[in-house]
Amino acid sequence: MTNKLDQTKKRVMSGMRPTGRLHVGHYLGVLKNWLLLQDTHTCFFMVADWHALTTQYAATENIAQNRLEMVLDWLSVGVDPTKATLYVQSDIPEIAELHLLLSMLVPKAWLEGSPTLKDLLKGGECNYGVLGYPVLQTADILTPRGEFVPVGKDQLPHLEISRDIARRFNHVYGGDILPEPKPLLTETPLVKGVDGNKMGKSSNNGILISDTDDETARKIKTAITDRNRILKTDPGDPNNCEVVFPYYQLFADEAAIALADSECRQALRGCMDCKKQLAEIVNEWLRPMRHRRNEFAQDMGAVQAILNAGRDHMRDEAQYTLGLVKTSMKLI
Ligand code: TRP
Ligand code: SF4
Repeated sequence: MTNKLDQTKKRVMSGMRPTGRLHVGHYLGVLKNWLLLQDTHTCFFMVADWHALTTQYAATENIAQNRLEMVLDWLSVGVDPTKATLYVQSDIPEIAELHLLLSMLVPKAWLEGSPTLKDLLKGGECNYGVLGYPVLQTADILTPRGEFVPVGKDQLPHLEISRDIARRFNHVYGGDILPEPKPLLTETPLVKGVDGNKMGKSSNNGILISDTDDETARKIKTAITDRNRILKTDPGDPNNCEVVFPYYQLFADEAAIALADSECRQALRGCMDCKKQLAEIVNEWLRPMRHRRNEFAQDMGAVQAILNAGRDHMRDEAQYTLGLVKTSMKLI
């Protein structure tokens, strides 16, 4: 049933910060890829709740709830705990211990020079935890001795630091002790929110996996179309349709895309009707996920049990890695 302990498979580690419910952009950009990897690799998927604290240290009231909501979303799209190990970062104290040991070999300049630091700070003050974000992420990856990390382009600088840290560790302590994790660059389609900005950037512009059909229809109703098309009798231009037509391309089948294209160009369909049809297509696409989500949501005890099992498995892995690390450092 399980391939979790198959030692011949390469190890993949990845994590997500529990910032709230996931949207279709998360699915198309990240989770879809996890579903492929869990069949071919030994996967470790982590809820990065300590990382959420780096920018949200004062606003902690939602973190516990968000952890569970995110795992529900993972399960609903088909992330499979019999294939991959799912766990919560703060359940694994060994990650913090490894983070501390690794931090000793990280020059401050590596962190200060990281282009992602600017994004994390967003003008705010630089805390020690924020500066150390990539070191903690390195501890995440190296705790299960991850060899590959699926990431988007924006995360590449972090991964470069992880590789540098692993390389330095091996150099200083003599040997091939820790793997140098490699990025698995995933092609992330840019999914716009209904308002035309990046999905998730403003609070309510995303189509959530956990939305009801009505919520999705309501959001799509507000979606940006071809701004030059004023009247229903004006022919539209799908290439100039900012959000609605691109959604057809993401969620509809070839026939529905072609039909929308031609009816739009000939002014045979109005934008309102086009959106109504789109809402049905998107809801149909999300239906199996939402169904599974509702089933899991009715048994949160089972979800917690999945995370407990992930924690137990992960702590075995983590203790093995720390043994290796401390032996190499002659601490034991
Ligand atoms: N930094 C990642 C993000 O914001 C989240 C993350 C934490 C992560 N630990 C990780 C990603 C380990 C990959 C591997 O999206
Ligand atoms: Fe966009 Fe559809 Fe309106 Fe054409 S009819 S502009 S594709 S919403």
